[in-house]
Amino acid sequence: MIEIADQKTAPKRCMDHPAWAVFEQKVSELYGTENPVDALLNRLADQLDQGLRQRPKAAASLDAARQGQPGWQSASGHTVYTFYVDRFSTDLAGLIDRLDYLQALGVRWLHPLPLLKSRQGDSDGGFAVADFRQVEPALGTMADLAALTQALQSRGMGLLLDVVCNHTAMEHDWAVRARAGEQHYREFYHVLDAPEQVDALEANLVDVFPATAPGSFTFDAEMGGYVWTTFYPFQWDLNYANPAVFEEMLGVLIFLANQGVEGFRLDSTPFLWKREGTNCRSQPEAYAIVEAWRAALTIVAPRVVLLAEAIESLDDVLPFFGDAAPGCDLAYNNGVMTALWGALADSDAGIARTVIEAAAARPDHGNWLNYVRCHDDLIWNALAAYAPPEDLQRWSSFYDGAGFSRGRAFQTAAGGVPSTNGMTAALVGLGKAGVDQDLARARLKLLYGIIHGLDGWPLIYMGDEIALGNDDAYTDDPDRRGDGRWLHRPDMDWATAGLRVDERTIEADIFSTLAGLAAKTRRLNDLGVAGRARSEDVSEPAVLAVSRNEGKRPFLMLANLSPEAVFVARPAGFDGVGTDVLTDLAMDNEPVELKPYGLVWWVADA
Ligand code: GLC
Repeated sequence: MIEIADQKTAPKRCMDHPAWAVFEQKVSELYGTENPVDALLNRLADQLDQGLRQRPKAAASLDAARQGQPGWQSASGHTVYTFYVDRFSTDLAGLIDRLDYLQALGVRWLHPLPLLKSRQGDSDGGFAVADFRQVEPALGTMADLAALTQALQSRGMGLLLDVVCNHTAMEHDWAVRARAGEQHYREFYHVLDAPEQVDALEANLVDVFPATAPGSFTFDAEMGGYVWTTFYPFQWDLNYANPAVFEEMLGVLIFLANQGVEGFRLDSTPFLWKREGTNCRSQPEAYAIVEAWRAALTIVAPRVVLLAEAIESLDDVLPFFGDAAPGCDLAYNNGVMTALWGALADSDAGIARTVIEAAAARPDHGNWLNYVRCHDDLIWNALAAYAPPEDLQRWSSFYDGAGFSRGRAFQTAAGGVPSTNGMTAALVGLGKAGVDQDLARARLKLLYGIIHGLDGWPLIYMGDEIALGNDDAYTDDPDRRGDGRWLHRPDMDWATAGLRVDERTIEADIFSTLAGLAAKTRRLNDLGVAGRARSEDVSEPAVLAVSRNEGKRPFLMLANLSPEAVFVARPAGFDGVGTDVLTDLAMDNEPVELKPYGLVWWVADA
């Protein structure tokens, strides 16, 4: 049972909170032309006050604890694990039984992919939500979710929940009522009357799934028009120009935060606002919406973190951290991730160096979610501002099964470069005939080593810790065969995972390497390493040199992205005596020898 916070100590009114002014300003910016905005603000204030009254005691005391640790999010060691619940542990109850496994891996945050009630049949992996206030019945109940958050809290872990805020399933009650003719709910969606209007908008839009879901609109006879469907036809984009939509989704966030959820992954944030004549991505209002949600949660549930899912060009991602007002606390570092794969294909770290430097433009309160792979395709097009088209094309072709890779190309809009599907193990060449398996293994370890050395939160994609490979069986399932991303969404193989206790196996090697990296990032904290990753110049094109120098001790990561051993002189300021934190070996001030795909984390001695 969830105990409600002691009202004597809880703030009485949201308007007394310093973040209210920010919230009010953002709401006015978004809906100020709506007459009267005061009525909207009053309703929103009631909603926040109610959220405050209903804040559970355990959550409220964690709120207070976190407020006493400013900057806690910027510390190293917030390892996140992302997975599909059904494929990892069958259901939520089973997930609790797997927490020892995750804790042994050094995981602090669980990020299950969408687990709220989705439509039946093809649900885009749960990204077509039919009810934001219920758990998918096949996975459990809201009580199971509360039990999970409690189990996590008792272990010092947290739950980062996916909230698919850009769209609903066409089976969601709002859509059902819209189809039944209720005007109030019809206005929750974008519905166009005429094909000419569709054509005019389409002229500027870029399809996300051009092969399996061409176009961004779907004619719906019951709606009597064309519904905006950026993704699949069963995923109806919400109309955030309607304040009622903003209000409802804020209610969802508060409701879920009060179930003990400690963070939200806000799905598809670039698409939240539409503007005719643009590509309807990353509009200023999309940033303002997350800033408003941030302010509201700072009032009601301050410990809850927000993660922007914006797989766009870095320059469009950065504003999701907020401007004068804080926005998301975290954002996927997709530019760096993609550039690292490119560097591995070419044995040249040049572009990765540039992107890492550009990513340092994040504000102090914003942190990167650093990753190697996730459940989606690797989107080369999002790197177009940093890499010439021929590089993107070469990498795309390389990972489509050429060279050491066992990946596969994914659909892309005309004029774009095909994305890549495949598990990390497959992309680095594990299990591929003719590919040196020691080098393949070293590539996997190197990529994970690099993302742990950067500033931010490292993310492990389910199965990578045991080098799980591609899953071709998805083509047998009619609900999944059309979407190539299922290639890298295998069922967790617990028999293989069991091999991690036998130290002769690759599973033991990779699992202990990742667990070791989690421990080492916490050690960086203890040593006083802090601050942004900055690119440093070194003479070897294959070597990525990254410093962090805003804490007590300077840190230098050297990563060799080539299969040849290299010697590299360290840049000035990072060339003194110290220790390689990864091996605990002392380092003098001589050039460093890096093994093929070798990695060093130098920290200056005190
Ligand atoms: C996000 C998800 C992706 C999904 C899409 C539509 O990009 O990561 O898996 O298909 O949103 O919800």
